[in-house]
Amino acid sequence: MPTVSLGLAILVALSRVFLAAASIVPAPRALVPNATATCLQIASSVSSASEVFWPTSLGLGYTNDIYHWASSSTQLATCSVEPGTAADVGVILQILGSTGTPFAVKGGGHASNPGFSSTTGVQIAMYRFSEVTYNAETSTADIGTGLIWDDVYAVLNPLGVNVAGGRVTGVGVAGFTLGGGYSWLSNQYGLTVDTVTAFELVETDGTVTTVTDSSDPDLMFALRGGGNNFGIVTKITLKTVPQGQVWGGLITFTENEIPSVNTATANFASGVTDPKAAIITTYNFLLGQPGVSQLLFYDGPTPPSGIFDEFLAIPYLTMDVSTRDFISLVQSSPSNATAGERGIFNTVPILEYTPALIDVIVNETVYWGTQLSLSTGDFISYDIEPFQPSFLSFGSTSTAAYPPDRSQPYLPLNIYYAYASALSDQTFWDAATESASYIKSQAIAEGQNVANAPSYGNYAIFSTPVSDIYGGNLARMSAVKARVDPNNVMGQAGGFKVPE
Ligand SMILES: Cc1cc2nc3c(=O)[nH]c(=O)nc-3n(C[C@H](O)[C@H](O)[C@H](O)COP(=O)(O)OP(=O)(O)OC[C@H]3O[C@@H](n4cnc5c(N)ncnc54)[C@H](O)[C@@H]3O)c2cc1C
Ligand SMILES: *[C@@H]1O[C@H](CO)[C@@H](O)[C@H](O)[C@H]1NC(C)=O
Ligand SMILES: *[C@@H]1O[C@H](CO)[C@@H](O)[C@H](O)[C@H]1NC(C)=O
Ligand SMILES: *[C@@H]1O[C@H](CO)[C@@H](O)[C@H](O)[C@H]1NC(C)=O
Repeated sequence: MPTVSLGLAILVALSRVFLAAASIVPAPRALVPNATATCLQIASSVSSASEVFWPTSLGLGYTNDIYHWASSSTQLATCSVEPGTAADVGVILQILGSTGTPFAVKGGGHASNPGFSSTTGVQIAMYRFSEVTYNAETSTADIGTGLIWDDVYAVLNPLGVNVAGGRVTGVGVAGFTLGGGYSWLSNQYGLTVDTVTAFELVETDGTVTTVTDSSDPDLMFALRGGGNNFGIVTKITLKTVPQGQVWGGLITFTENEIPSVNTATANFASGVTDPKAAIITTYNFLLGQPGVSQLLFYDGPTPPSGIFDEFLAIPYLTMDVSTRDFISLVQSSPSNATAGERGIFNTVPILEYTPALIDVIVNETVYWGTQLSLSTGDFISYDIEPFQPSFLSFGSTSTAAYPPDRSQPYLPLNIYYAYASALSDQTFWDAATESASYIKSQAIAEGQNVANAPSYGNYAIFSTPVSDIYGGNLARMSAVKARVDPNNVMGQAGGFKVPE
């Protein structure tokens, strides 16, 4: 349970301080941190660019700061703080470190795991880091970590350029990029981490530094996928690429058409070689019925014939497919419809979407849809996200912490359950765990070599061992962690934690 692991993280952090005491003489720190006192200390130490909000403050500051897409990822923080400068982030981190106060860092608030970007201590919300600056000479964009991808596309697309970012509306730049980033453009340019040229990082001792492959290759490697383990990122520089109009959107299908969708999906996943083409096939269970939400994407105004014909020939319930701006395609997905529901994600690394494995996934949708409806489940879904065989070749295991194995094109199946009642949390966590492990066992039984394949941390349930995400890259990450955050201040925040 996340609360237990947060408690453990604090104990570990405290025991580290006591261990360090033998050699260094640390600043004395209260056994039980007083978060209210910490909030007051932050409020009196930061510049006027930053602001602290209390649950009782007037206005929406506190409410916005603790808000998450999945309400199960929201907690009532003692206070929230919106830092306005990197220097203030440094001041805040030093206070959090010296007091041992639990805290959270939030970008777009789309964490699917409870406690990963929320806390009962100090909630840091990055909203004020909200600039997008396009540099035509270097073909890069500097992007503030308080933004969602919609904001980034709104600035860049009218300039005829784009970045490899989120595929649906509302998702944050920060957590997405720091975890990996599977984009509509990944077949052409790689994961988002493979397109990062610099991070502006605030380390836990308050140092503000720009990290690049040449300034600090180990730290750059660790930040490409390593989440919030190394400090707070205030700015991300991404490579830009030309972007014109695109084609695609959403089609929904009812239960009768599922066999045709299965065939079209299997054929697309195994047969399409045009890197501008991508799909997400979502099998879902909604209002007692299975169905499909089908997203189609082509990076150009008109797809060549043949690529999507099978999908377009299936009788549909609704169809919103057209030539459009990139941002319009991103906003055509219904992913924000379940905003405010409780939720949990999990994932399975898949090598091949065979017809037999797709049947297993459809059966899981119906089986768990039926079961979980009894426990306030509203929307039970499984996303098939095929990419082309070369899509991991744009980076390497020595330049990015995630994924730790690029020898095969592992595909992250996304399991997502939305539900209403907090009393059902454990039921949904157990189901998401059991279903993922069943699908993995079926893939292995088919002969897919995924037993030790990496799990995608931005989809993986909180109980996933950190070694399942980072594999053989974990040791190098730990060495970086010990160097840049020796007192494990970032261990006071939730998330997948890299041991020192
Ligand atoms: C509707 C939806 C669609 C999605 N679609 C995709 C997709 O197409 N491709 C894909 O790869 N993933 C996708 N995801 C997963 C997504 O990548 C993760 O949810 C990601 O964590 C979201 O980032 P965020 O900034 O919104 O999250 P947050 O909840 O704000 O943060 C997530 C993690 O990042 C850390 N973090 C946030 N900001 C900072 C910072 N400035 N410095 C250091 N650490 C920070 C947090 O502490 C937390 O651990 C999707 C998720 C949802 C809910
Ligand atoms: C925590 O700090 C606040 C503000 O300084 C103080 O009012 C409160 O009494 C403290 N609580 C405890 C339990 O010490
Ligand atoms: C998603 O829905 C929530 C809750 O209804 C809303 O506050 C938020 O603005 C929506 N986000 C987007 C990007 O539309
Ligand atoms: C459907 O899924 C359930 C749960 O994983 C499993 O027990 C059952 O054997 C599956 N049925 C078929 C026909 O695959």
